[in-house]
Amino acid sequence: MDAERETAAAYRTRVVNVERQAEAGTNLGAELIRKGELVAFPTETVYGLGANGLDGAAVTRIFEAKGRPADNPLIEHVSKKSDVRALWMRVPRLAQTLMDAFWPGPLTLIAQKSDLVPMEATAGLDTVAVRMPRDRTARMLIAKSGVPIAAPSANRSGRPSPTTARHVLEDMDGRIPLILDGGPCQYGVESTVLSLCGEPTILRPGAVTLEMLEAVVGEVRVSESVLRPMKEGEVAASPGMKYRHYAPKAQVIVVNGPPEQAARRINALYREAEAEGIECEIAATEQTKNFYRGKKYVILGDRNQPETLCAGLFAALREMDGRADRIFAEGIPPEQEGLAYMNRLLRAAGFQVIEAE
Ligand code: TXA
Ligand code: MG
Repeated sequence: MDAERETAAAYRTRVVNVERQAEAGTNLGAELIRKGELVAFPTETVYGLGANGLDGAAVTRIFEAKGRPADNPLIEHVSKKSDVRALWMRVPRLAQTLMDAFWPGPLTLIAQKSDLVPMEATAGLDTVAVRMPRDRTARMLIAKSGVPIAAPSANRSGRPSPTTARHVLEDMDGRIPLILDGGPCQYGVESTVLSLCGEPTILRPGAVTLEMLEAVVGEVRVSESVLRPMKEGEVAASPGMKYRHYAPKAQVIVVNGPPEQAARRINALYREAEAEGIECEIAATEQTKNFYRGKKYVILGDRNQPETLCAGLFAALREMDGRADRIFAEGIPPEQEGLAYMNRLLRAAGFQVIEAE
């Protein structure tokens, strides 16, 4: 507890708005990264918590600040494609094709690591995940630092990923010296993680969808654990999948089915819970909001454009979590960006699902 308090009070956390002060903010950030300190920065997916990705001691500080299990590896962020050559033993042929199609952007690629990458960053694995973000601030920070930046999402472990600088401050105030504030993130869910060790396999779905990947490289597999819990004794393809991620304190319940049926079932469940004195709230969509009149709800986005649901999900979970004991959310078909949405939602719900049909 004392050690915990000490880390929590170690810094006066500065927030610099990079929409107004891009140069000054990234100069300061790069200076801190080179000194082995941590810097939170915006990306087009979620905010990252960065450290010098070639410095094992600096990387260890990320795990301390997040309270992250030591066996969960990090992503190395680069500012140009050619930087992967130093990080991977060799560049797989498919990787080059995918980098040309999707970088910079929300796609992380995993291949055999080089000796340059410290074991602390890969949690002892002999592979390393690399991504080139599209966000301008992120790339300026990496380029000015002169090293790849190892960065997980900038939340405390187990909390929803941060999609605004305020979310980062909620979780990291006093734990890190600097947050670069670039406004809300475009996608709101973390990057697609694709392993290129063996058959190309999606370990975590994101805004670069299965359909988009297959259009470029042909068949791509999806790890089974994307939409179901890990089984007892199963070895995780990606260590991150075994943790109860994106976990709000409130209980989250997913209701699957056509919009109208799902909404009617949610209303019935809401009324029952309310009668028992349970504070409820609904993650609603444009299509169903009228069904929820008189109840507490937040509109995430449009069911027919799952990317809008992705963009609103984590912020809505954080917001509702302070108010509600139970959150109801509609399930959608796991297609296109709907796969990323359902992957995050099911994890937030601890896989509690009700079929409305
Ligand atoms: O969009 C994103 O990817 C954000 C931004 C900051 O770039 N970062 C992010 O990092 O989401 P993180 O650490 O929260 O998630 C990385 C995921 C974890 O599930 C981890 O287990 C997996 O990638 N991962 C990293 N390296 C891996 C490896 N070598 N093999 C298998 N899985 C790996
Ligand atoms: Mg994370």
